[in-house]
Amino acid sequence: MNIIYHASGRIFHLYNDTISYLMMILRNGHLGQLYFGRRIQDKEDFSYLLETCERPMTSCVYETDRSFSLEHIRQEYPVFGTTDFRQPALEILQENGSRISNFTYDSYAITDGKPALSGLPATYTENDAEARTLCITLKDDVTNVQMQLFYTIFAKGGILARSVRFLNQGTQPVHLTRAMSLCLDLPDCDYIWEQLSGCWARECHIHTRRLEPGIQSIGSMRGNSSHEHNPFLILKRPSADERQGEAIGLSLIYSGCFRIQAETDAHQTVRILAGIDPETFDWKLDTNETLQTPEAVLVYTDRGLNHLSQTFHKLYQKRLARGYWRDRPRPILNNNWEATYFDFTEERLIEIAARTKECGAELFVLDDGWFGARSGEKAGLGDWKPNKDRLPNGIAGLAERIEALGMKFGLWFEPEMTNKDSDFYRQHPDWILETPQRSVSHGRFQYVLDFSREEVVNAIYEQMAELLRTAKISYIKWDMNRSITECYSKAWPADRQGEIYHRYILGVYALYERLTREFPHVLFESCASGGGRFDPGMLFYAPQGWVSDNSDAIERLKIQYGTSMCYPLSSMGSHVSVSPNHQVFRYTPLHTRANVAYFGTFGYELDLNKLTPQETEEVKAQIRFMKQYREILQYGTFYRLKSPFEGNEAAWMCVSEDQKTALIGWYRILNVVNDRYTRLRLEGLNPDYLYRNSRTGICHYGDELMYAGLITSDETAGQVPPDVTPYTDFDSRIYVLEVTRP
Ligand code: DGJ
Repeated sequence: MNIIYHASGRIFHLYNDTISYLMMILRNGHLGQLYFGRRIQDKEDFSYLLETCERPMTSCVYETDRSFSLEHIRQEYPVFGTTDFRQPALEILQENGSRISNFTYDSYAITDGKPALSGLPATYTENDAEARTLCITLKDDVTNVQMQLFYTIFAKGGILARSVRFLNQGTQPVHLTRAMSLCLDLPDCDYIWEQLSGCWARECHIHTRRLEPGIQSIGSMRGNSSHEHNPFLILKRPSADERQGEAIGLSLIYSGCFRIQAETDAHQTVRILAGIDPETFDWKLDTNETLQTPEAVLVYTDRGLNHLSQTFHKLYQKRLARGYWRDRPRPILNNNWEATYFDFTEERLIEIAARTKECGAELFVLDDGWFGARSGEKAGLGDWKPNKDRLPNGIAGLAERIEALGMKFGLWFEPEMTNKDSDFYRQHPDWILETPQRSVSHGRFQYVLDFSREEVVNAIYEQMAELLRTAKISYIKWDMNRSITECYSKAWPADRQGEIYHRYILGVYALYERLTREFPHVLFESCASGGGRFDPGMLFYAPQGWVSDNSDAIERLKIQYGTSMCYPLSSMGSHVSVSPNHQVFRYTPLHTRANVAYFGTFGYELDLNKLTPQETEEVKAQIRFMKQYREILQYGTFYRLKSPFEGNEAAWMCVSEDQKTALIGWYRILNVVNDRYTRLRLEGLNPDYLYRNSRTGICHYGDELMYAGLITSDETAGQVPPDVTPYTDFDSRIYVLEVTRP
């Protein structure tokens, strides 16, 4: 890995074994983009990669050179208004009303390692040899605003992290009405755009389309990154698939309003922009003030989408997630939400917890409804004190009883919200986000606390910290069940109201930071009505998140498959719930519910007392299985094998780091009678290792399983002999492969 500056052509070359990233200082002092892709050898001159030509008629040229129009030049951080008519990365509104700026090169610095981003989540290094960072400083002479572009190249993998920092060194305030984290101008548009989109209970479905002339985008203006669009994009070559081919992944480490877009111009070049949503953003930068943008991560591969995802998985598992739980197998839990909803007493919880323990699980989680006057959705949020009618011994007493059973105890919070029917709101009616003289909307009868204000964050912190200090709480589920509306803070002046969305999420991050530092052994799981804020920003604080409120195994195939495009299995909260399922009312076999949930953090969402003795034994076996293999399932190398978006079957697998064990999950949605023969070509095995197939007892070399494939056919073809368990709808299998002779 290296970063080289070629002074003669004023060219920067960042490279490691996998990628090269090339930029040059243009003749107008701006930064031009030359190349991003597979590693190429370094040399002095690459300036010819900046193609310019004298285009007829419509182009406006910069100064006097008829071939130099920013409209046709690929740039690193473009502005609008001076010959480039595409959407810009930056817009600065100045005192005189102008939005024109001219940031020209000033200096550069290269440092080992990677600096932290103040107040924001970001990837990090553990020692300086893991990455190098280039910081290029540019200045605008009229406003005296300084801009620093940060590029960190990691030693391993095709990873480049980018962010931007502004400092107002002038005497006048300016307004940043757009400050994206990244611009990437690509020389051609021969890509398929792949996004993860959906809605509540249908998150992260994969949608693809070709890049076409014009702008296509995903984003959120909801205050949270949203169920609708995940802050993640893949651009893949049309010939690329899971196993091979070129692709670029872009992930924004941010949990608030965002935008990611591609603009294809008339000459088929593409501009990618990613960052805070400009529509909801207007940041006043006063003299000597700074603004740091969120980090955007680019990953390049020429080895297919599985490899792209694996690169993100490793990075986010090891150099985004932090703390005690980062590398540890996650506890198998049972959460009472779907078992009881709001209808519970301490005794009922203990009954469920006792059976949970008997089955072998390790953590019992009490969800919504334990605090204040919370007996339903309408009251209590903000009053983080136990409801003594339900919990006469308080949270501390309940936690003691759970611990006495031999399990850890976890608790649900929704720190950012309040109900009007709460003591908290009655004491601080002016602490919610609402616009003066306008009605304020609720979502689920709740209102959003103004987390842009330190005193509000502090008040919630005090309540949470008090409980964490006094009760044995080992896990927190941090929920967030509505988006932001009527966004206005009574604490900030009129000309700073455009900062509130961003300041809000900075407040959320600050509270997370404080709690995770003070209680480093507590495992945090983020949640926002399921996957409404399942993003890399959250992963920095909470190493796992509740992927979706939809706990149906068949629905989860698509949701978890899509989520795995960017996020590691160790981050994906996945539980076995009751059948018929509470979201889609589908009946699915217990083994299939577990077979899907294994590929995540694993747990239950069930009153296990309601199971038959046979089902209870099955659950015990599932928990034993998960304990045996969770290290591989959560930290092994994950491969998608068959997409649930493309047919009746789905499959994926995890391989241990030493390649000696592999677990394959195979799922068939609807049963098929007299079906064709089916095989799965496996991935990631050692071709020379002999593996024993747990279902058949047959041994196969890795190469056979990868190239000839694993046979998954229904050998009964619908004519089931009496001693054979018939296949059903929603069937599934787990194949365990263990090396017999390395
Ligand atoms: C939404 C979450 O996603 C659920 O799991 C549950 O915690 C409810 N909120 C509780 O209100």
